[in-house]
Amino acid sequence: MLEKLELVEIDEEDTSALRLKFPPSPRSGSYPLILGGLSKSYGEHTVFSDVSLSIERGERVAFVGKNGEGKSTLVRAIMGEKGYEGTLTVGHNIMIGYFAQNQASLLDEEITVFQTIDDAAKGDIRAKIRDILGAFMFGGDISSNKVKVLSGGERTRLAMIKLLLEPVNLLILDEPTNHLDLKTKDILKSALQDYDGTMILVSHDRDFLDGLVNKVFEFGNKRVKEHLGDIHSFLQKKKMENLRELERTIKL
Ligand SMILES: Nc1ncnc2c1ncn2[C@@H]1O[C@H](COP(=O)(O)OP(=O)(O)OP(=O)(O)O)[C@@H](O)[C@H]1O
Ligand SMILES: [Mg+2]
Repeated sequence: MLEKLELVEIDEEDTSALRLKFPPSPRSGSYPLILGGLSKSYGEHTVFSDVSLSIERGERVAFVGKNGEGKSTLVRAIMGEKGYEGTLTVGHNIMIGYFAQNQASLLDEEITVFQTIDDAAKGDIRAKIRDILGAFMFGGDISSNKVKVLSGGERTRLAMIKLLLEPVNLLILDEPTNHLDLKTKDILKSALQDYDGTMILVSHDRDFLDGLVNKVFEFGNKRVKEHLGDIHSFLQKKKMENLRELERTIKL
């Protein structure tokens, strides 16, 4: 009993410590992203065509849609990793923090958890490295483990801390919750709730998106459709319980 109580206490302390931390995002121009008539094809296969949309400063949007509808492709075009037709304007003073689907595999394997964060943290936040590690469940001995011994979920978690330490004003996270357990997802979610910059979340996870976004861009039939409102109102409109149902609807 006592042991359990203590554990719960530590937990609460660490989570509340986390809420104070992340650096405010540097101010950006009013429109971090403007796409005009954007199209992408691979040979004969058109992934999407004529996508026009804009994302305003401070907006939190979700990219949703079936597998293969082009969400990651669009994100990679924004990151300059893919060619495209049309116009894509990244706004003034935009500093992008990008979490790719393979982000966890980009960590340096030979250094420890602590070193990874110690190298990434700049400025005042350095005083809180131990707290941050604790809040993301890397308290105690585990922080001296090398990255190469970490599990997939632990690597994702570490890559996420690293990203959240950077002072960026446009966060683009492509399926960040894929390897995360429920608890880690909640920790990430509350960190994102406190984030004050612009955010694009690519996800199939309704519970994760719930409370995080106020606009949904639906990818499908080679188009991107804008829906105002949160993920609930989107699902209600589509008469769906969850985003996985998108996979089951018949493509017209
Ligand atoms: N280098 C490539 N060459 C040819 N086709 C590609 C290439 N990269 C991606 N594609 C195709 O483009 C389409 C869009 O892929 P993309 O990864 O953007 O989908 P997604 O919406 O992110 O899907 P998921 O939800 O599964 O992550 C897919 O049909 C994919 O097979
Ligand atoms: Mg994808």
